[in-house]
Amino acid sequence: MSIPVIAIDGPSASGKGTVAALVAKQLGFHYLDSGAIYRVTAHAAQQRGLDLADEAGLATLARGLDLRFDGVEVYLDGHPVGDAIRTEAAGRAASRIAALAALRTALLELQRGFRKAPGLVTDGRDMGSVVFPDATVKVFLTATAEERAQRRYKQLIEKGFDANLAALVEDLRERDARDASRASAPLRQEADAYLLDTTDLTIAQAVARVLDWFRQARPN
Ligand code: DC
Repeated sequence: MSIPVIAIDGPSASGKGTVAALVAKQLGFHYLDSGAIYRVTAHAAQQRGLDLADEAGLATLARGLDLRFDGVEVYLDGHPVGDAIRTEAAGRAASRIAALAALRTALLELQRGFRKAPGLVTDGRDMGSVVFPDATVKVFLTATAEERAQRRYKQLIEKGFDANLAALVEDLRERDARDASRASAPLRQEADAYLLDTTDLTIAQAVARVLDWFRQARPN
């Protein structure tokens, strides 16, 4: 049997990362935050003075990225990037380069390399549609823009960043629109993905729902 994959896709700040990491922990599976790959690629490009619209340059950069995950920490060229990739500006830069088809193709192999026994839980925008189309369970995890902005607000404040709720709602709407309208691997619920609206769910309830779907798909 192939190595199981649980693919959790959805818009910004929907809580998919938190849910995915907890599902991975429960099952003893590996976890991949694919958004971090786009964020760190944009960060590396800015460090090297690359234009964020330079598609060929970014694809070459992506193929040669020296990237390593250790828990939630991401290492670029052997150095921890820390919260530098977690700001709203870093998210916007990631969303911009994520619209470039050649860059997305360049990152495919890197992402698929995370599929290792006993299994992988991953979150992003196209994990179920493009990167792991044969995933065991596909989930489209979402919440209203207002609820997501609240969650992102809390997260930013906890990290010691400045945040403004109204600006966050605006920012999320803009990012969703860009991620959903791009030609290459747009954000959308696939026909074979379960819809998980977490607006009125606790994290534990969302995790339990995903685990149920996985057990249904893999009874043993
Ligand atoms: O999930 P996130 O907010 O960390 O992702 C940052 C950006 O990266 C997001 O706005 C779109 C892009 N992204 C993508 O296009 N495909 C993925 N699988 C993950 C992220």
